[in-house]
Amino acid sequence: MKLTMNNGVEMPALGFGVFQTPPDVTSASVAEALTVGYRLIDTAASYFNEREVGEGIRRSGLDRSEVFIETKVWISDYGYEQTLHAFEKSAGKLGVEQIDLLLHQPLPTRFDRTVEAYRALETLLADGRVRAIGVSNFMPDMLADLLDRSTVVPAVNQVEVHPYFTQPDVQRADDAHGIITQAWSPMGGITSYRGGGSSTFDDPVLARIAAEHGKSPAQVMLRWHLQEGRSAIPKSVKPERIAANFDVFDFDLTDDQLRAIDGLNTDVRGGPEPKDVTLESFHRDIPEA
Ligand SMILES: NC(=O)c1ccc[n+]([C@@H]2O[C@H](COP(=O)([O-])OP(=O)(O)OC[C@H]3O[C@@H](n4cnc5c(N)ncnc54)[C@H](OP(=O)(O)O)[C@@H]3O)[C@@H](O)[C@H]2O)c1
Repeated sequence: MKLTMNNGVEMPALGFGVFQTPPDVTSASVAEALTVGYRLIDTAASYFNEREVGEGIRRSGLDRSEVFIETKVWISDYGYEQTLHAFEKSAGKLGVEQIDLLLHQPLPTRFDRTVEAYRALETLLADGRVRAIGVSNFMPDMLADLLDRSTVVPAVNQVEVHPYFTQPDVQRADDAHGIITQAWSPMGGITSYRGGGSSTFDDPVLARIAAEHGKSPAQVMLRWHLQEGRSAIPKSVKPERIAANFDVFDFDLTDDQLRAIDGLNTDVRGGPEPKDVTLESFHRDIPEA
């Protein structure tokens, strides 16, 4: 299943994420995912595993052109020149000439630098070094500010979306500008590994719907994203889960089931509040290639 971005480039709707995948298992996980059928890999400079993602892609034996690679510039590399350099670091580690989708996230306390970083993405797009550019964790007010001060409308906004946190206002703002919403933590993994919250994987509504289709709650959540037009990038390091999370193309949720899942939204964010992100609290130095 593919989605067409606002610049006409197609991307696979279902991808594979590698946040918190340790570098020593990343290459095997990525190769496994590609063997099972995933064709989109989502990494980031700040995950410190871009090199291993590149290795995994080469290990799969697939041609570079068959795999959609997305990565993210980290906030400590913001500024026009710094972001151009950050691209070279990421491309070098991934071992590719061209990146398919390059994302970045807002740094509200330094919004000027955020805009400069986005301008660098526009330059990379014009130079053909990336096929599409996008953003991550942009709330509607931040998106409006960015659109006022840039030329290219982002192709994608990657934000936290799972049954317990659906951000309908963000999805509406994305839709209004023809931006694809890509769900991170699409199965609510963040509600489990951060602790404290109840787990989507044990939710009774999801369990009931899953039983009605002979599927798992994880598969139901991924199918829900796809049927509502989002891209989703589930993560796992376990081969059986990597395969199961891609086995979601042989059933359809009914409208009632989709609405029941929408109704699980608690409006409680699992991840960091985007407007509170600062360079100081999230500082990470991204090493050279
Ligand atoms: N832009 C951003 O700010 C941002 C933030 C967070 C994440 N992301 C992206 O989104 C991707 C996915 O997010 P995520 O890892 O937070 O959440 P997720 O994909 O919703 O959940 C992953 C968690 O669920 C477990 N899991 C995977 N498949 C399962 C299944 N079938 N049944 C039960 N448990 C399962 C995984 O453990 P095992 O690995 O042990 O299977 C892991 O702990 C990341 O890898 C990253 O690429 C982006």
